Amino acid sequence: CLWVRNLRLKRRLPGPFAWPVVGNAMQLGQMPHITFAKLAKKYGSVYQIRLGCSDVVVLNGDRAIREALIQHSTEFAGRPKFVSFQMVSGGRSLTFTNYSKQWKAHRKVAQSTLRAFSSANSQTKTAFEQHVLAEASELVQVFLHHSTDGRYFYPAYELTVAAANLMCALCFGRRYGHSDEEFRTMLERIDKFGETVGAGSLVDVMPWLQSFPNPVRNVYETFKSLNEEFFTFVKDKVAQHRDSFNPEATRDMSDAIIRGIEHEQDSLLTKEFVEATVADLIGAGQDTMSTAMQWIILLLVKYPDMQAKLHRLIDDKVGRDRLPSVEDRSSLALVDAFIFETMRFISFVPLTIPHSTTSDVTVEGLYIPKDTVVFINQWSVNHDPLKWKDPHVFDPTRFLDENGALDRDTSGNVMIFSTGKRRCIGSQVAKVQVFLFTAVLLHQCTFEGDPSVPLTLDCSYGLALKPLQFGVRTKLRGKLLGTGS
Ligand code: HEM
Repeated sequence: CLWVRNLRLKRRLPGPFAWPVVGNAMQLGQMPHITFAKLAKKYGSVYQIRLGCSDVVVLNGDRAIREALIQHSTEFAGRPKFVSFQMVSGGRSLTFTNYSKQWKAHRKVAQSTLRAFSSANSQTKTAFEQHVLAEASELVQVFLHHSTDGRYFYPAYELTVAAANLMCALCFGRRYGHSDEEFRTMLERIDKFGETVGAGSLVDVMPWLQSFPNPVRNVYETFKSLNEEFFTFVKDKVAQHRDSFNPEATRDMSDAIIRGIEHEQDSLLTKEFVEATVADLIGAGQDTMSTAMQWIILLLVKYPDMQAKLHRLIDDKVGRDRLPSVEDRSSLALVDAFIFETMRFISFVPLTIPHSTTSDVTVEGLYIPKDTVVFINQWSVNHDPLKWKDPHVFDPTRFLDENGALDRDTSGNVMIFSTGKRRCIGSQVAKVQVFLFTAVLLHQCTFEGDPSVPLTLDCSYGLALKPLQFGVRTKLRGKLLGTGS
């Protein structure tokens, strides 16, 4: 009968025993995504854990994740009401707020602005490409400077500055020098952002930790102040844009967002959403992009034969007299294959930003109530032995077809930008950017690791996995080319 069916549907999800007060918090380990994949072997792709005072459903593997995020896209489009989420972008973040009509309007403005400045037509595509090429060329010079007299250096900071500069060029029409101390200090601080909002961070699920002095409370306070500092920086720049705003001439993304929100009749968004949108775009674009480039350089150093193969390919297809461009993409399929394999193998955004259910829903026959926190394990999709041959082996050629072209079906199976209603809005921009940065760096430089520091894939966990500091040095290949070349 219906009553028995409902009871069966609503049975408790499988999952490990949860201890009083802390639940399963102490079992997550250093790399929660790997713990979650191991638990999936025991409890199935959909199971429940308890973190402090929150029940959390963890989704693993391609089938369960796609069923949830695509077939039940609206039910899984929420974000939990975590206190830390409300501290981002003055409490009006597009990324960290729950599913609502207002969120939809907000996402639409951000998405259309990003498109208008990157891919809307051939003119904007060229302008975007020029920004990326200029930033990549500057990076080459900074790397070569740091490698003077064969010295080794840490590339992480410079990559963070380059990624942030690119977003600032798009949003504010200006970039900052690599030696601008104020800018660097702010960026070094935002680097810690992902530690607090990554799935498995404990500040939000154990609110009592905030009521007495302890290391978790310190994380929380640092998070609050770094968000305020970054948001003040953005507010300042947006205020300057408002003062000189001309509806006839849209200079950059800040102007476009001002127009889209403040000058739009019946907008569901008040003017304070302008700075929140700009802050979200810079924050989301900068952290993920610099992390992607750190892993790419690390893997180029770790696999010197692959680096040499990429050098030969670029010399053959592009030559030494000009820099690579987007038009070279199809003839440089191995570069894209190398990037996809880095995204798959490292899965440097291993879990998406936490989701929550917007209504009761069933996945793989298991009932999940409304307002449940949901963790989505992208790493498990990228290491699923049913989908990937030797998933723990780094092999970019798995993405090439028999003609040496990029295999779109295989590359489409990599999950790092999530899917469904909350999928990343910057994935296209990110792919072009990572391709151009990688192609220009390889065209201009060789990368060598510091033999005195063992190269490992060890990393720190957060929203993005960051490699531990590693030393490299670069050597110029042929002549130095600028964007005018
Ligand atoms: C959200 C990955 C670059 C803007 C996300 C999410 C992931 C992700 C996993 C969360 C999706 C979810 O919760 O289900 C990445 C990766 C990038 C990248 C791996 C680079 C390699 C960018 C760039 C931008 C951007 C360049 C913008 C310029 C956003 C925004 C969201 C988002 C605004 C929030 C979407 C929402 O909550 O509706 N990204 N991202 N991302 N990303 Fe990206």
